[in-house]
Amino acid sequence: MEKSNPKRILVVGLLCVDIIAECDSYPIEDTDQRCREMRKQKGGNGANTSYVLAEFGISVDLLTNIGSGNDMEFVKMSMSSVNLSKSLHVNEPMPTSLVIINAQNGSRTILHSGQSLPELKLDDFTRINLSEYRWIHFEGRSSNAENICEMIAFIRHFNHNTEDPIIISIEIEKCREEIICFFDKADVVFVSKDHVKFHGYHTPEDGIQNLITKCKPGATLICAWGDKGAWAKPPSGEIVKSSAYPPKKVIDTLGAGDTFNATMIYSLMQNIPLQQSLDIACRISGAKVGQKGYHGLR
Ligand code: ADP
Ligand code: FRU
Repeated sequence: MEKSNPKRILVVGLLCVDIIAECDSYPIEDTDQRCREMRKQKGGNGANTSYVLAEFGISVDLLTNIGSGNDMEFVKMSMSSVNLSKSLHVNEPMPTSLVIINAQNGSRTILHSGQSLPELKLDDFTRINLSEYRWIHFEGRSSNAENICEMIAFIRHFNHNTEDPIIISIEIEKCREEIICFFDKADVVFVSKDHVKFHGYHTPEDGIQNLITKCKPGATLICAWGDKGAWAKPPSGEIVKSSAYPPKKVIDTLGAGDTFNATMIYSLMQNIPLQQSLDIACRISGAKVGQKGYHGLR
């Protein structure tokens, strides 16, 4: 059966506020210093990934709990290219990150606070009409592992009864035990370099060779490795890689991984081969680290 919009994607993940302090150098503790600029931006892996997908012209829905307070309208306005109508409003403060960007090398240091916002439950997810989607991407949140696994089981059940199954991807980013259970849940798994190191592997090849055994048969495992580029293992065949594409100057690495993930999803959805998709994702995330924010990446 033809879907109403064959290009629609659902992203399930966090929407928060990022307060970004861009500093001449990384600050010294217990000093009083000026920063170059302080700006506010929407943030959260789910929000950033869906925003970049929308920059590619994809119809994208974000399912998230939207907090309240002064920043709520600002964040919603800056997400106007993404459909938030499936999201829920919650009477708790917006989760907030304080981000220090070192202007010398574009590094980002994130201090996050968002514990008061409830996590999404299975009931929030089952309200969604799954037949609208070609692809569903999850931010693999450690604080919500059980619910996310239930949501994925719900999609799998849907997939058993359709000729047009939804592709499931998940991001395994943080260094936490609770998210190891996500490896065998998705068709496309994004594992971060930090998480690979958390398992004791020091190179992307080593990480992928070992962690692919945790994935379900037929899955693709993808690993971005900062300024070294990115690696991936297709369902059958050898590991492929792409080098990074550094900009003239690295300005802002915040959300490089979210941009990379969005571009991979976009490319794979267009049936672009894995190696070429990695290359495109490294080019776009290379462009991202050369600019502030995510606008105009495509
Ligand atoms: P995260 O934001 O999750 O830490 P990574 O640092 O692994 O993500 O970066 C994701 C992708 O962004 C990399 O695969 C690379 O293509 C690009 N990237 C990140 N940092 C740089 C950099 N300094 N120069 C060029 N490309 C970069
Ligand atoms: C970047 C980011 C920020 C947010 C933080 C949450 O990947 O999503 O926008 O503040 O990570 O962990």
